[in-house]
Amino acid sequence: MPTPLPPGAQVLPDADAVARAAAERLLAACAGSERVAICLSGGSTPRRLYQLLAGPDYAGRLPWERIHWFFGDDRAVPWDDPRSNVHMVREAFGHGAAIPPSHLHFIPTDLGPEAAAAEYDRTLRAFYGAERLDPERPLFDLVLLGLGEDGHTASLFPGKPELGATGRLAVAVPEAGLAPFVPRVSLTFEALASAREILFLVTGAGKRDALTRLDAGEDLPAGRVASRGTLVWLLDAEAAGL
Ligand code: 6PG
Repeated sequence: MPTPLPPGAQVLPDADAVARAAAERLLAACAGSERVAICLSGGSTPRRLYQLLAGPDYAGRLPWERIHWFFGDDRAVPWDDPRSNVHMVREAFGHGAAIPPSHLHFIPTDLGPEAAAAEYDRTLRAFYGAERLDPERPLFDLVLLGLGEDGHTASLFPGKPELGATGRLAVAVPEAGLAPFVPRVSLTFEALASAREILFLVTGAGKRDALTRLDAGEDLPAGRVASRGTLVWLLDAEAAGL
């Protein structure tokens, strides 16, 4: 039974094809910006993309020297904790060999969730160069997002919509709605929307229910994500029920 899909969703044969399509869109997002800002998602799905970007197939193709890497969320654990998205990204990128350290903007989770969110909020506004985001000048060139089985995205979970709409760019999330059940730090809907392109990467049959609920109009965080620019869903055939 095919899964009802978001408008314009692109279905690819498998997770590897999703990673390759995402890599090409990330490359395209780098064009035209002297200083590129890419917001990474965590979890397991994007790991394959990050490994691809750091691997031989993309050697010499990414303008590493022009890209600044941010995080859409992280777990409030030390960066060397296997649950940390920084840990996952460092492993996948090969410890960022090609990335200038000043271009890695990790969420300072060692400060604790509240202080980390406040500090990251400041980091984002300082990078942007203004206190308020201008709808005509997105903060990010590309935002990567995943879809949780409960319909969450970043660390904005169902039942806590107020967390994502606070006038802040980054917030502390005291309780995660899915494992790992540790406090989180998440970008808000306002920050995530300030993008030339938002790219959802969704793979696996486990996401069919969330996709179906989104299609049915249920008010889920992933459905609240707007984009100042384009919003693209890349799914594999398993998630699409094909
Ligand atoms: C995180 C992610 C989270 C993730 C979804 C989907 O920190 O866990 O940012 O929002 O994207 O939970 O995770 P998977 O892609 O691993 O299914």
